[in-house]
Amino acid sequence: MISFDLEEKIFRIDTRNTTYAFKIAHEKFLAHLYYGKKTDSLQGFYREYPVDFAPYIEEIGANFSLDTIPTELSFFDSGDTKDTAIKIKNKNGDSSTLFYYKEHKIFKGRLEFENMPYSRLANETLEIIYEDETSGVELHSYYSVFENSDTITRYLKFVNKGQNKVQILQATGCQLDLSGADYTLVTLCGEYGKERNITEYPLHVGLQGIYSKRGHSSHQFNPFMAIKTSKTTENTGEAYGLEFVYSGDFEARAEMTYDKRVRLTMGLNRDTFTWNLQAGEEFITPEVIMTYSSEGLNKLSQNFHSHIREHIINPKFVYQKRPIVINTWEAMYFNIDEEILLRYAEKAKQLGIDTVVIDDGWFGKRNDDSIGLGDWYVNQEKFKNGLADFSEKIHALGLKLGIWIEPEMVNPKSELYKAHPEWVLQCKDRPCSLGRRQLVLDLTNDEVIEYIVEQIKTTLSEVKLEYIKWDFNRTLCEVGSLSLPKERQGEAKHRFTLGSYKMHKKLTEAFPNVLFEGCSGGGGRFDAGILFYCPQIWTSDNTDPVCRLAIQKGTSMAYPLSTISAHVSDSLWNKLESTPDYNFRFNVALGGVLGYEMNITRLSCDNEKKVTEQIKQYEKFAPLILSGDVYRLDNLEDGEYGFVCVAKDKSEFLLVYQNLNGSTKKRVPIVSIDNRSIYKDDKGNIYRGEKLLKEGIEIVTTSGTYSYLHCFCEKK
Ligand code: GLA
Repeated sequence: MISFDLEEKIFRIDTRNTTYAFKIAHEKFLAHLYYGKKTDSLQGFYREYPVDFAPYIEEIGANFSLDTIPTELSFFDSGDTKDTAIKIKNKNGDSSTLFYYKEHKIFKGRLEFENMPYSRLANETLEIIYEDETSGVELHSYYSVFENSDTITRYLKFVNKGQNKVQILQATGCQLDLSGADYTLVTLCGEYGKERNITEYPLHVGLQGIYSKRGHSSHQFNPFMAIKTSKTTENTGEAYGLEFVYSGDFEARAEMTYDKRVRLTMGLNRDTFTWNLQAGEEFITPEVIMTYSSEGLNKLSQNFHSHIREHIINPKFVYQKRPIVINTWEAMYFNIDEEILLRYAEKAKQLGIDTVVIDDGWFGKRNDDSIGLGDWYVNQEKFKNGLADFSEKIHALGLKLGIWIEPEMVNPKSELYKAHPEWVLQCKDRPCSLGRRQLVLDLTNDEVIEYIVEQIKTTLSEVKLEYIKWDFNRTLCEVGSLSLPKERQGEAKHRFTLGSYKMHKKLTEAFPNVLFEGCSGGGGRFDAGILFYCPQIWTSDNTDPVCRLAIQKGTSMAYPLSTISAHVSDSLWNKLESTPDYNFRFNVALGGVLGYEMNITRLSCDNEKKVTEQIKQYEKFAPLILSGDVYRLDNLEDGEYGFVCVAKDKSEFLLVYQNLNGSTKKRVPIVSIDNRSIYKDDKGNIYRGEKLLKEGIEIVTTSGTYSYLHCFCEKK
C-alpha cells in the first residue's frame, strides 16, 4: 500500500512484511527515511547536520546538504559528491543537474513497457516527478508495489520538456541509501562453466561493484546484488537485494562512506550507454526489483522467487508441467540426423522421457560451429523428409519435439552474411572480432529482426513443436551499427538488447504454445529479462554434478527452481565418481527442472532402470519444485549442500542433501514445516513436524554422498 502523509510530507510504501519510506525535505528534495521490517513509526529517522566541505544551497542553509542526507535519487555535480545515479549532458555542455521534486501521483497498476520486459500485475505505483529547470528535463521515478512478494520495482522515465537536445550519460533506475552497519556484499560471480557462485566480501569504504560490458548479462557477474549484516544467516538477520530485469550491459555498485553510509545502485552500464533525447522525447530505463528480508537470505530469495514466478514469467507456463527432455548436444554435438534421432526417440519413449530436443546442427550447412548460423532452413541431408515429417514421427511415438535456435547470430560462412555483410554489428572502418567463429546481427535494425523472425517462422511453421531452446553464444564487441547515424552509435548496445527483446516478443508470440528455454553458452544470460519470455534457462554447459551444486545453489539465491534447467549427463570432471553415478546426478538435478543429456541408446540395463525410476519419482514432486518455497540448509560444512522445498500450505516438502565429504549420517536442521502436522514419506515412515523442527532430520546418505526425502502431510 502506498500512502502520503500531507502534514509530515512522508511517503510510505508497505508490503506484507516491509516498509519503505521517504520524505519531502525543504519542499524540493526527497530524503530517504527507512527501508526494513514493517513499522508504524517513522519518527527519528531524519536528521540534518552540518558537515565540513559539504556543499549546500544558500537559502536552505549549511545543515542540509545533498552530500550528507540519504536521498531517493542523486544527480551528478549538484552537491552530492558520492556515486550519483543520473548524469546528462545539457545544452550548455556541462553535466550539472539539480532535479527538484515537482509533484507526485499514486495510481493502480503500473506503467507497462512496450519494448522491454517488466513485472506484471503491480498492486499500485508511486510516481515522483522531478524537474531540472535549466535543462528542461523531467525525471519520473516509479515505485511499483508487489505486496505479496515484498518487492518494489524501480524505474525511471526521462522526459525532455525543454527546447534543446540533451544526452543521457547515465541512467541508473534504482538507488538505495542506507545507514551503514557491518555489511557484507553478496554477488553471484563466475565464468563460463562456473556461473553464479555465491561470492561474499565485507563492504569496505569506497566503491565496490559488478557489471557486464559483454552485451549479455554474462557468466561473470549476474545482475543481482545483495547486502547482509555480518550476523545474517540463511534463516535469520537482515538482507537487502536488487535484481535487474535486463539482459544486456549493467552495473551494480555499492559505495560506503567513511562515516558508514551506504548507497546501492543498479542500472545500465555507464561505460557503454548514452542516449540522445531530442526535445519532446522520452526514455525509460529497465526496471530493478528491490526487496528486503528480516529473516535471512532464504526469505530474500523467496521474495525474488515469488516475484519472478508471479510477475515475470509468462503465467501460462509458470506452473505448467515442464517437459522432461533428452537433449542431443552432449551425446552427439553436430552429428545428428533423422535416423539417429529416431533411435533416440524410441529409446526415450521406452525410458519415460517425454520430449526429444534437437540441439545445434539441424539447419543450413551446420556441421560444425564455423558455418550456418543465420541460414534458418532445414538441412536436407540430415532430415531427408523434412522437419515436419520428422516431427510427425516423433509425435506418433507419443513424444514431444524441441529444437535449438540462435537467432541473434550469424557465421561469416553463411548465405545470410554473404548477402548482407552490412547486417552485423560493426564499427565503421574497423575489423570485427569473432566469438565462437560467429558475428552478431545488428538488431538495432528492424529489417534484420523482421528477416530472421520471418525465416524462422517459415521454417518452423509446419513443424509440430512444443519446446524451443534459444541460445546466444558470444560476447559482443565493436558494437556499432551501420544503420545508425554517428551521434547515435553510443545507443547501439542498449538498442541491440531492445532489438533482442523485440525478437523474443515476436517469436514467442508466433509460437504461443511453445515453451522457450533461454541459454547463452550455458548460463551467460540467466536473468529476469530473459525469464519474461523463457520460463526456464539452461543453467550451465557444465553438467558435472559436483560443479553443478555450487552453480545451482548460487542460482537459487536469485531465481526460482522452476527456472533452473538441470540435466543428468555423462560429463565427468569430478574425482568422486569413477563412472557417472546416475542416481547422484539425479539427486543434483532435483535442484531444478529435470532433463537428460547423454547417449541413452548405450545405457546399461541397470542405468535404463534407474532413469525410468527417476522420472517416476520426479513426477511425484515436480509440481512442488515449480511452486514451493526453498530453504537452503544452514550451518553446513564445506562440501555439503542441501535445501528443503516446502509447499506454500506446508502440506508437502522435499529435502535434498549432498555431502561431498562422504559422510553417511548427518542431522540437519529443518525450518518452516508445520509443527502440528504429521508427515509421511514415500516409504511410509512417519515424522512429527514438531520433532523435526526441534531436532532436525537425520539423513542417511546413499553411497555416502546424497539423499532425498519427500514427505506429504498425513494429518494436522
Ligand atoms: C551452447 C549451449 C549448449 C549447446 C551448444 C550448441 O554452448 O550452451 O547447450 O546448445 O551451444 O552449439
